[in-house]
Order: sequence, then structure tokens, then C-alpha cells
Amino acid sequence: MNTPLHTALLKWYETNGRHDLPWRTNPDPYAIYISEIMLQQTQVKTVLERFYFPFLEAFPTLQDLADADQSDVLKKWEGLGYYTRARNLHKAARQAQGVLPKTADELLRLPGIGRSTAHAIAAFAYREPLPILDANVKRILHRYYALSERNEKKLWEYAYTLFDTAHPFEYNQAMMDIGSSICLPKKPLCSVCPFEPSCKGKTSPLTYPEAKKKTIKPIRKPNIVLYRRSKRYALKERTSRFLHGLWGFSESEENVTAGMHYLGHITQHYSHFTLDAEVYLSDEMFNDEGFEWFELHEISALSLSRADHKAMALLRYNLKK
Ligand code: ADE
Repeated sequence: MNTPLHTALLKWYETNGRHDLPWRTNPDPYAIYISEIMLQQTQVKTVLERFYFPFLEAFPTLQDLADADQSDVLKKWEGLGYYTRARNLHKAARQAQGVLPKTADELLRLPGIGRSTAHAIAAFAYREPLPILDANVKRILHRYYALSERNEKKLWEYAYTLFDTAHPFEYNQAMMDIGSSICLPKKPLCSVCPFEPSCKGKTSPLTYPEAKKKTIKPIRKPNIVLYRRSKRYALKERTSRFLHGLWGFSESEENVTAGMHYLGHITQHYSHFTLDAEVYLSDEMFNDEGFEWFELHEISALSLSRADHKAMALLRYNLKK
């Protein structure tokens, strides 16, 4: 691609890049891998403040991660959401036998690593000359080349066209920074963008890419019931693909029965649906097949979904009253 643009981009990165992000200063490929997985669906601030360092402290190497129990990995992931990422990290550590592959092609074979993530890890950890294509980069490309159509295959071609093969680390990090601070979805700051002189979409950036068709998320309205038996509460380890491995209270679509005390209402937004649940406490008997009984302090040691944490908060609040 054109060198003056790459020179401008490099210069921009030198002056404005977020050089102090720990996954940019720590060259350990494993730490870079962890950061890229966390950052797939979570903001930099959250990853930085609450998850990146404690996770690396608990599992300092890929071998440590491979040797860990899945439940301990999930516990460290608790609150970060999209738990498939944690289960895949654990699976990948075992599949790779504690040794992280050194090329994007091999990284791509591990669970949880898609093409853009494989390129990011390989570019950042090993300087492999490959472009990334995450949501931010897609938006930049759509605008820079004035592309309306959302077409993954074509975008990859443009990603390679614009790429600076000589500086894979700086180029990709700069793209992430520009995507998150300049080429913003609603308020792009074109006047300070290093791409501005040759950007084809700069006169109407908001029109690229074309709007997505609106899909309406379904709402699930179950009752969450905290069954209690002499200070112990019934929870079961979830086995569904979604939230697999996390512990949760009884959830049912059935009607409330006598003996259930209303604790409150919770809402939780997930990627594919919204949970809108009423929470009850019950001292009545119930069929506890598949459930285990825990005291309150024991529940703190389990990994729970955010919804179950909210149910717990309602319980604690009601117990104090
Ligand atoms: N999001 C994903 N990877 C990132 C990185 N390396 N720096 C900042 N944000 C990111």
C-alpha cells in the first residue's frame, strides 16, 4: 500500500498510541493471547481494571492454565461474561499441551481463536505480518474505502490492501486505537484522523457501513427460586452450552406456588436474549435431583452468572430486613 499513509499512521501511533497498555509492554505471547481473548467482547477499561492482572496471577503460564480445573478458570472469569471464552481458553491450553503455537495458522486451530484474533496474537507476539479485522477495523475500512455493503470476504481483501507489512505490531495497534478514539461509530473525529487526507468516506462517514437490519431480542421471563433448607440453598451446575459450568438457582417457567416469598425482580441482557425474572425464596420441599445444597459463604466460592448474583443480592437484602 502507499508509504506516505503508512508513515503518517506510524507517526500518529508514536505520538497518540496507548503505549502503556500492559499487553503492549509485556511481550509474553501467553499474556498477549489472554488479553486478546478478554478484549474480544469486553472494553479495555474493564479488562484492565478487574480481570487481566488477577487472571495472569492465578494462571501465569499456559501450562498453569492447562493444569487448572475448569471451575477455577471460570471463577477467575466471573463477571466478565461470555463464558465460552474461558472454557475455550482452558481447552486450548490443554490441546496445545501448555505451549502456545508461534504462527497464526496454528493458533487458528485452537478453540476460541478466530482469524482476526489469530492475526492479532501472531502480529503482536511474533511480528507476523498479518492484518486484523475486528469491529473497529471494519468500520475504518468501510469508511476509508466508502464501502456500504457488509461483506466479510471483501473486507479481508481491503484489510490486506491497507496493511503495512513492515510494521505489523504498530499498524494493528494503531488501527485499534483509531477505531476506539477517532473513527467512532456515531461521532467520528475526522479532523484529527491520520487517514483523513485520502479517506473516501469522510464527507458522510455515518453512512458507512449500511445500517444493520434490526433484530428483536427475545425476552425470557422465568421465575428464579432460591430453595432453602436449614440455611442451605439449592444450586445446580449448569450443563447447557450457554453458561456451562456456572452454578445457578432453580429457574422455571412454571407458575408461582404457595409458600414462595417474593424477593424482587431482575433483568440481565445477554447477547441473544434478555432475561426478565422474578425471584422467590422458598422453604418448601422440591425435587432436588441434580441440585446441591450450599451455605451462603460456600456460594461465594462458586462461579455464578450475573443474573444469579443479582438474585443473591436480593436474598441478602431481604435477609437483612
Ligand atoms: N482490543 C483488542 N485488542 C486490543 C489491543 N491490543 N489494544 C487495545 N484494544 C484491543
